[in-house]
Amino acid sequence: MNHPKPMQATAMAHPNIAFIKYWGNADDDLVLPANASLSMNLEQFRTETTVTFDPGLPGDELHINNQPVADPARQRATDLLNLVRQQAGLTAAACIDSHSNVPMGSGIASSAAAFAALAMAGTAAAGLDLSEAELSRLARRGSGSASRSVPGGYCQWRPGNDLDSVAVSIAPAEHWDLRDVVAIVSQAHKAVGSSGGHRLAGTSSLQAARVAGTEARLKLCRAALLARDLARMGPVMEEDAIIMHGVMMSSHPPLYYWSPTTMALILAAPEWRAAGLPVYFTIDAGPNVHFICEAEHAADAAAQIRKIPGVQDVIISGPGGPARLID
Ligand code: PMV
Repeated sequence: MNHPKPMQATAMAHPNIAFIKYWGNADDDLVLPANASLSMNLEQFRTETTVTFDPGLPGDELHINNQPVADPARQRATDLLNLVRQQAGLTAAACIDSHSNVPMGSGIASSAAAFAALAMAGTAAAGLDLSEAELSRLARRGSGSASRSVPGGYCQWRPGNDLDSVAVSIAPAEHWDLRDVVAIVSQAHKAVGSSGGHRLAGTSSLQAARVAGTEARLKLCRAALLARDLARMGPVMEEDAIIMHGVMMSSHPPLYYWSPTTMALILAAPEWRAAGLPVYFTIDAGPNVHFICEAEHAADAAAQIRKIPGVQDVIISGPGGPARLID
């Protein structure tokens, strides 16, 4: 019997670090964010995903770094591919083969790169030719921050309805040679992942105030970023991360992502600045601390970070380009 030829494509995407955070949805099912956010793609980290639609397969299969992955992660990939199949008029199951150097579940948003690459590889394998905005919208359904890993460099994701809520690049990677110097405090999988966390955001009485203030912070951050002015961008970025963690810690139940080492790193930042090292921190849904600085200060920042007891490793990344199809 003749099987039709499997349909296959491979895509690569970088994760991103947000300077102005996304936390909480206006619509959880459509992943429409409560507020706009702003981020930088991370060149050093990559996820490469091959999607092969194969009518001979009984169901979707997911492999990450050559290991078979069970539900619920597999089901999240299936949910995204169901949107692709619906649009392409396909019924075939798929084999998803993903390779990543992003430490999973550690506060470096591995899901952003994963869903950006899956959206791009899945649609290409299904024979769809989507625009960048359409891909960003689709990736958003897998994980909100994945919408920001589709365009390149520095990206802004806007709230709105299903059609409007996409990310666009506000400056290419070459605009500003920043570094994200990541202090790895723990590589353990976090107890409550970001999808669960977004659903809790509204239970904090601080969330409404956070959302109300985001637009002003984003405006300041964006203007400073476009002017390459870290002394202006840094304080608003730090404030935005702390406000998000205030929401997390005051949710019901509360989410405490910090470890004592996280706090030690937060307290070290103003001391390093006073000593002439211009670095500013941000923190995602995990204990790791991301120090943002210009490239010339990255080695000094890494050396200072390594001196803090409890820091397991330091990884440095520059700004990355857009998600793309690869051979
Ligand atoms: O895309 P998600 O559901 O993994 O959410 C990401 C949330 C934060 O990393 C904490 C903030 C952000 O804007 O990336």
